[in-house]
Amino acid sequence: MTSPTSISNPTSTSNSAMRDRWDAVMMPNYGTPPIALDHGRGVRVWDVEGNEYLDFVAGIAVSALGHAHPAIVDAVREQVGKLAHTSNLTAHEPGLALAKRLIELIGAPGRVFFANSGAEANECALKLARRHGRAGGEADGRTEIVAAHGSFHGRTLGALAITGSPAKREPFAPLPGPVAFVDYGDADALRGAVTERTAALFLEPALGEGGVVPPPPGYLAAARRVCDDAGALLVIDEVQSGIGRTGHWFASLAEGVRPDVLTLAKGLGGGLPIGACVGLGAAAELFRPGDHGSTFGGNPVSCAAALAVLDTIAREDLLGHARRAGERMARRLAGIDSTLVSGQRGAGLWRAVALSGQHAAAIEAAARQRGLLVNAVRPDVLRLAPPLLVTEAEIDDAVDRLASAIDAVAIDAVAGGAEATSAVNGASTSQGTNQESEQ
Ligand SMILES: Cc1ncc(COP(=O)(O)O)c(C=O)c1O
Repeated sequence: MTSPTSISNPTSTSNSAMRDRWDAVMMPNYGTPPIALDHGRGVRVWDVEGNEYLDFVAGIAVSALGHAHPAIVDAVREQVGKLAHTSNLTAHEPGLALAKRLIELIGAPGRVFFANSGAEANECALKLARRHGRAGGEADGRTEIVAAHGSFHGRTLGALAITGSPAKREPFAPLPGPVAFVDYGDADALRGAVTERTAALFLEPALGEGGVVPPPPGYLAAARRVCDDAGALLVIDEVQSGIGRTGHWFASLAEGVRPDVLTLAKGLGGGLPIGACVGLGAAAELFRPGDHGSTFGGNPVSCAAALAVLDTIAREDLLGHARRAGERMARRLAGIDSTLVSGQRGAGLWRAVALSGQHAAAIEAAARQRGLLVNAVRPDVLRLAPPLLVTEAEIDDAVDRLASAIDAVAIDAVAGGAEATSAVNGASTSQGTNQESEQ
């Protein structure tokens, strides 16, 4: 594998000074981050005090090639020095090449809309669903969306409307609708919910922010059949699962399920902001000129970075590596012997450790103190999503540190001090204080 580029020196500030500055100027939607990162290289990052961490969060499943990967650095440097932005009034090579490459990887006729984020990719899919629902020319047509309890599709109002978390939705009602929610993984529930009123069914291949929860085998295939029978679009949100995270380019296609619309973001740009909404078959033809747009979506610099990500994954067989490394991580995680751990799950380099109680924030903080970044995705679930090029030695090292963190929290829990520990460490779920860590 290509080695990362060299690093700069840490700054002379402190994490606590950065926290104060954060609190002074940032909206309080996230809660205060415990540390401020200065730079990264490969699977490692350094905070502003010079402390080194193994990064098993990877910017929440974003930094597929780790940090400062030379392929991305070179691609971005070259493109930004040549042409940073064009708008959608003119074409550019990186955008065209990336769209072509995505369609080739999917292996079906399709068309791409580039956005800047996962939520925006899903907004595009929602508008495709409206067009689909009115394909017969009716003014009302099918407008209903079916989505899953526990799902996460983004924070814009449309994406939020189909996100299966009442705590996130309700403060911002009224939201676009109608939306019907079903229990994730229950194929019979899909059969009842997806009807002639349904424009689209939105599903993740596994609940990502919901705690890396895979559905029972055959669920996505059942969803495909249900949508075909009802004439609804199947939209698969691979914003988190896509681009190698599970050891496959796309988790749904690896299961033999071809959606009508596939949404991508996160790992695609390797850290540069880009989202993609890919329409397949008839869904590729739903938009008319003027239907949708974005000033920055498909920006040449982000597209150049994404091409570098896809090239590197293919050239270095990072899909095979992610599968093998993921198996090793699963084996090592299974070896953690603690009453605090109730199980582990996931695919490839997308793993969750399920806990027997609400210890995730305390363990996240204890791991950080041991130089390991993991994410308390739910109060009782830790998520591990390292860069796809993580080595076996880094996995072993990370699991050892995690086991030590779990032991430390277990000792505190026995002493009745788990809550005190998390307060002292400033632990919180990664996206604020509402007990749910979705971004
Ligand atoms: C499955 C899924 N869809 C959509 C989103 C929203 O992506 P973004 O934060 O880039 O808008 C996320 C983010 O976590 C996600 O996991």
